[in-house]
Amino acid sequence: MTTVIAIANQKGGVGKTTTAVTLAHGLTLRGKRVLLLDFDPQGQAARALHLPPSSAVYSLLTMDTGASETAYIQGKIISTQRDNFWLLPGNKQTADAQAMINSQGKPISWVRETLDRFCTSQYHYLVLDTAPSLGGIQERVLWASDLVIVPTPAEALGSDGVRQVLETMKRLASEKEWKGGLFGVLPTFFMETVKEHRLNLDALRSALGDLILPPIHRAAVLAECPAFGQTIFEHAPDSRATQEYSRLVDIVLKA
Ligand SMILES: Nc1ncnc2c1ncn2[C@@H]1O[C@H](COP(=O)(O)OP(=O)(O)OP(=O)(O)O)[C@@H](O)[C@H]1O
Ligand SMILES: [Mg+2]
Repeated sequence: MTTVIAIANQKGGVGKTTTAVTLAHGLTLRGKRVLLLDFDPQGQAARALHLPPSSAVYSLLTMDTGASETAYIQGKIISTQRDNFWLLPGNKQTADAQAMINSQGKPISWVRETLDRFCTSQYHYLVLDTAPSLGGIQERVLWASDLVIVPTPAEALGSDGVRQVLETMKRLASEKEWKGGLFGVLPTFFMETVKEHRLNLDALRSALGDLILPPIHRAAVLAECPAFGQTIFEHAPDSRATQEYSRLVDIVLKA
């Protein structure tokens, strides 16, 4: 069975792409076959790995689900030059697909329908990097997912942003018969020396318990990764950031 995991938060710059790329690579290092898909028109998932952004996700979203279309889209999957780790890139055309989907009034299930072709024994996981937005395509991407991870900067843990994402997910479950669910809020840019971060984390843990994942600290080595086209497992294998993302991989593998 293939598990679809979305990394989502309507806020920008919270660590979505970092988490998507790192989690995808981490899962492959544990022997899983993973396809990373970039649903963000910024095309950053490809850039983080020094691979070319492309209109692959545009094709995925706008083409029919037939056999010839599937063969065409499969031709757009690129190898990351790492074992069992593939990428379906996005680029700014993904935004055009979004407009088309909305104007055609595609159902909430549309993104899932486009992904079902990859839900075969070929892949254990599909990891979806997503745009900093809500509504439109984003709801369909959430709906397509079995698990959703919401990276949230430590200073924003107490803010409305977290509540908004959680409410969107609740609504999808209650009104749209979404079968998936929140896997967890992932605190990012955490600094234990900042009292506000510790207080925010404690407050959220007492409200949401296990839905608050162990935090990822702010780490210069993580910010350096895109410049090298490497993931943290390659760039700084002995770092705390590697340990922290490995722990996230463990938790996902246990799900
Ligand atoms: N834990 C961290 N510590 C330090 N820097 C980080 C950390 N996580 C991510 N970064 C850096 O912060 C910036 C934003 O991260 P990232 O691109 O992953 O966020 P995003 O949520 O995908 O942004 P967008 O909403 O624009 O897609 C990047 O430069 C990234 O390298
Ligand atoms: Mg991003």
